[in-house]
Amino acid sequence: MIGRRQFLAGAGALALAAARPSAVPAEEDGEASLATRARRKGLSFGTSVSTAELRLPALRAAVAREADLIVAQNELKWWNTEARRGQPTYGAADAIMNAPEFEALTRRGHTAVWYRSIPDWAKAEFSAGRGEAATLKRVRDIVAHYRGRIVEWDVVNEAVWPADGRPDGLRDTPLAAAGGLDLMADCFRAAHEADPDARLYYNDYAVEYASPGEDEHRAAILTFLEAMKRRNVPIHGFGVQGHLTVGNRFRERVFARFLADLAALDLKIRITEMDVSDQRLPADFALRDGKVADHARQFLDVAFDQPAVVGLVTWGLADPSPWLDAERARPDRLPQRALPLDRDFARKPLWTAIARSLDGAAKRG
Ligand code: G3I
Repeated sequence: MIGRRQFLAGAGALALAAARPSAVPAEEDGEASLATRARRKGLSFGTSVSTAELRLPALRAAVAREADLIVAQNELKWWNTEARRGQPTYGAADAIMNAPEFEALTRRGHTAVWYRSIPDWAKAEFSAGRGEAATLKRVRDIVAHYRGRIVEWDVVNEAVWPADGRPDGLRDTPLAAAGGLDLMADCFRAAHEADPDARLYYNDYAVEYASPGEDEHRAAILTFLEAMKRRNVPIHGFGVQGHLTVGNRFRERVFARFLADLAALDLKIRITEMDVSDQRLPADFALRDGKVADHARQFLDVAFDQPAVVGLVTWGLADPSPWLDAERARPDRLPQRALPLDRDFARKPLWTAIARSLDGAAKRG
C-alpha cells in the first residue's frame, strides 16, 4: 500500500496535510464515532478506563459509543494484581474488562513489566537476587490469567533510557540489574508461551519530539528492538505513548523517520496513551482547545501516514486527566483540557482533530 507520505514528501507536506479534504464529507457523517471512523480505515480507536471512571455511567456510555478498544489504566499493574505475594487480586481489572457496556470492545493489557509498578515484596526479591524469577512468574501469571481475553499486551514498559549510562541502553532499574537484555527477551518469551495468540508490544514515551534527548532515546529503542529481533524474540509491536505537550518541538520528518525505522523491523505501531498537555498555555478555554487540537492533528497526521500504525488509544476519554493534573500541574492549577471530550462528555476540538485525522488516513490493506 502506498501511504500519503509518498505523495506529501517535501517541505510543504504539513500545509498540504492540513488543507487536505476529509475522505467523508463532515455533513454526511458528523456524528460518526471515532471507532467508526477508525474502522473505515482498518484502524482502531481505543481509550484507557480507570476504576474511578468506571463508576460514572455517562463515562461508560461515552467509551462504548466512541471506542472499539479499552485498556485498564492502572488495574493490571503488578502492584495492583499482586500487592501481596502469591495472592492475586484481579477484581479491579475484571470490573473494567467485564463491564457490560464494554462487552464488544477489544482489550489491551498494560503492563506486565514496568519498573514503576513493582510491589514491595517483589522489590525485596530483587534485593535477594531472585528478581528474575519473580518477574518471569509475574509475566506468565498475568498473561495466562487473561489468555484469549486480552489480545494485546504491553509486555515491557519504559525499559530503555540511555541517559542512565548503561552500555546496553537500558534504564537503570532493578529489572536491568537483575537480567538486562536477557531478562527483557525472556519476558516476551514467557508472555508468548502464556498466550501464543496475544500480540506483544514494547511501550515507551519521549519518542515524539525533536530534541537531543529524544533523538538519543529513539536510537536506543531501535537498538533494543533490533537486539530483540536478532534473538528471535516474539515481539510484534511498539507502543508510542504519545503524551504530548503543546509547545514542544514536533518535527514531522523526525517522527516519520522513527516510525519508518520501526516498520522496517517488521513491527506494528500503536499510539497507546495519547493526551495533550496544555500546561504552558493561558487559561482561556477556546485558546487552549484550539492549540491542543492543532498539536494533536500535526502528530496524528504523521502517525496515520505510516502504514504500520494500527490505531490510537487515548489516556482517558474525557477531561479531567488526574495524572496530568497531579504530575504536570498547570501553574494556575486549573484542570488541563487534554482529552477528546469535556467533563460533560461533549466533543471538543481535540475530538474533531482526531476524527479529521482518521478520515484522512489511507485505508489499511
Ligand atoms: O488507587 C490509589 C488510591 O487508593 C489512593 O488513595 C491514592 C492516593 O495517592 O492513590 C491511588 O493510586 C494512584 C493511581 O494512579 C490511581 O489514581 C497512584 O498513587 C498513582 O501513582 C497512580 O498513577 C498512575 C501512574 O501511571 C503510576 O502507575 C496514573 O494514574 C497513570 O495514568 C500513569 O500511567 C502511566 C502509564 O502507566 C505508563 N506511561 C506513563 C503514564 C503516565 O504517567
